[in-house]
Amino acid sequence: QTSKLWGGRFAEATDSFVQRFTASVSFDQRMALEDIRGSLAHAGMLAAVGVLSAKELQQIQQGLAQIEGEIADGSFTWSVELEDVHMNIEARLTELIGITGKKLHTGRSRNDQVATDIRLYLRGACDAIAAELTRLQTGVVGLAAAHSETVMPGFTHLQTAQPVAFGHHLLAWNEMLERDYSRLLDCRARMNRSPLGAAALAGTTYPIDRAHTASALGFDAPTENSLDSVSDRDFAIEFCAFAALLMTHLSRMSEELVIWTSAQFNFVELPDRFCTGSSIMPQKKNPDVPELVRGKVGRVNGHLVSLLTLMKSQPLAYNKDNQEDKEPLFDTVDTVLDSLRAFADMVPAIRPRIEVMREAARRGFSTATDLADYLVRKGLPFRDAHEVVGKAVAHGVESGKDLAEMDLATLRGFHPDIGEDVYEVLTLEGSIAARDHLGGTAPRQVVAAAERAAQRLAAR
Ligand code: ARG
Repeated sequence: QTSKLWGGRFAEATDSFVQRFTASVSFDQRMALEDIRGSLAHAGMLAAVGVLSAKELQQIQQGLAQIEGEIADGSFTWSVELEDVHMNIEARLTELIGITGKKLHTGRSRNDQVATDIRLYLRGACDAIAAELTRLQTGVVGLAAAHSETVMPGFTHLQTAQPVAFGHHLLAWNEMLERDYSRLLDCRARMNRSPLGAAALAGTTYPIDRAHTASALGFDAPTENSLDSVSDRDFAIEFCAFAALLMTHLSRMSEELVIWTSAQFNFVELPDRFCTGSSIMPQKKNPDVPELVRGKVGRVNGHLVSLLTLMKSQPLAYNKDNQEDKEPLFDTVDTVLDSLRAFADMVPAIRPRIEVMREAARRGFSTATDLADYLVRKGLPFRDAHEVVGKAVAHGVESGKDLAEMDLATLRGFHPDIGEDVYEVLTLEGSIAARDHLGGTAPRQVVAAAERAAQRLAAR
């Protein structure tokens, strides 16, 4: 009646819509290589414990090698009737090697098989992402090291606050990315356990060796509980949470680049190859790459919520719901890799306009806090100093003069303790150099921080 691998108890063929509706092969074929690796490990273990003969193992290995070749060169025919990647490969194996192919699934279920495949796939994706993240951070830290003395306005509320080194700002980006990297490693470590051997949900009656398959697949150990092994997707959710935070950071960086490249700010220039033009306005050079990355955080956040919602209320153990985990997960991986690639290529090419940033820092009374600190050193309580400087700023706003542009007599009018040495603290260089402690923006601190960051990257 039916050609399905599970067709024994069925009296009629699957409805054609149901067949399409329940199939996952269109997207889970992405895990074909992981599926083959898992099967090779499983077969190797079955032979080691005597369930398969050495000859059978060899046949399975040869058959799977041929299938891997067919998939690589595009000649493998994927069939929706065979539902998913697992049954497509198994059916082809039987086609190729006959009866031995039907023995591969001994002591295994698609439930532990798919749980294994996703972990293997995602572990590989984590490694690719780690490499790309490291490439980006290397670019960020390199640019920061080159700009320990480049002054820009630091902002709060997007209003000029205090001058900072451009390199200091970039190292703030690097800190966010450094935490992302550490979250990625945490998530990878918890993911790296082998569910293989849990079978459908309760384990299997064969004398399997789970440590054998775990180590053959590079897992740190087998998982502990068979029910949990086939129903746990925490690792996928954790990965999506990592991804949502990383994308949040990339999106914040993007937003700054969009602002900085605007004609009104003009702090940095992005090379033409990372921008596009307008079909109507000839003057336009749009920062599409950062804008797109900023936009892509939306789908990644969405995927995190999808997976959380997918898992909520699922009773143990495996449920078909879990088939819905793959598309959000795959799209998250693709989006993160593309976004990191875009940023890793773009960041080293950012050209800061040093004079424009400097001029912007000079305006906006960015050294007002320095003047208050100066008065405190002369003996005033900070609140009084704040009040005095506030008056000076109000005068500056009215007269169109920055604090450093007021003559000494004018400044002394606000407080008699102000002396000639005040101009040292009102300069941009004086202001940043004075914040000379761990985590501060003094150029020598920025140089040291960039050095430490580079060492951490080199030690990865
Ligand atoms: N395609 C399925 C998935 O992605 C594989 C496991 C199916 N197991 C089952 N008993 N229906 O989850």
